[in-house]
Amino acid sequence: MTVLLFNASARKQGNTATLGERLLTDIPHTTIHLMDHHLNFVQDNRDTGRPQADPTDDYESLMAQFATANDIVLATPVYWYDMAAPLKVFMDRWFDSYTNGFPFAGKRVYLLIVGADQPEIKAAGIANAVRYSCAWLKMDFCGVTTVTADGPHDIAAMTTFPASFGALRLNLEKIV
Ligand SMILES: Cc1cc2nc3c(=O)[nH]c(=O)nc-3n(C[C@H](O)[C@H](O)[C@H](O)COP(=O)(O)O)c2cc1C
Repeated sequence: MTVLLFNASARKQGNTATLGERLLTDIPHTTIHLMDHHLNFVQDNRDTGRPQADPTDDYESLMAQFATANDIVLATPVYWYDMAAPLKVFMDRWFDSYTNGFPFAGKRVYLLIVGADQPEIKAAGIANAVRYSCAWLKMDFCGVTTVTADGPHDIAAMTTFPASFGALRLNLEKIV
């Protein structure tokens, strides 16, 4: 089963994408740049009688790919001490899929975070949001690595990564 890398950065060749590609070196995968896709904000139709679905954007086609993968790498830069909006909007829309019985359970999720200003401390909320969302959806949260970088080629130039990066890589090697 394929590995999917979702890059939430506005820089498609920037640090976040590069970190994802370096994590997945020699591991077959498909990269999806969320910025290439049109995603509407989630609607909350619980009290309206309308279906919890929005077929007018790219969400369903992204989830069709999601359905084929056992391993999902979510990669986000830190924007204003939180995840980048494309990932937030995408995750908000998981409510549509959850409501309609999408088979999230058992998928393995890995999280990559890149920020410039002490992201490990100041953007710690991102990991919690993803961890608890995975738990809610019965997905297996397989860990997070947070890397400090700012200039667009910082990650490409890095020769050492945090131990958490190595741990994620080992987890991924087990599945391929
Ligand atoms: C709109 C915007 C907001 C940002 N806010 C933060 C922030 O709150 N904390 C932080 O550590 N870095 C922040 N950054 C810096 C980016 O996280 C950093 O440059 C990162 O390496 C970008 O990854 P990329 O190369 O994949 O785009 C911000 C960058 C942008 C463009």
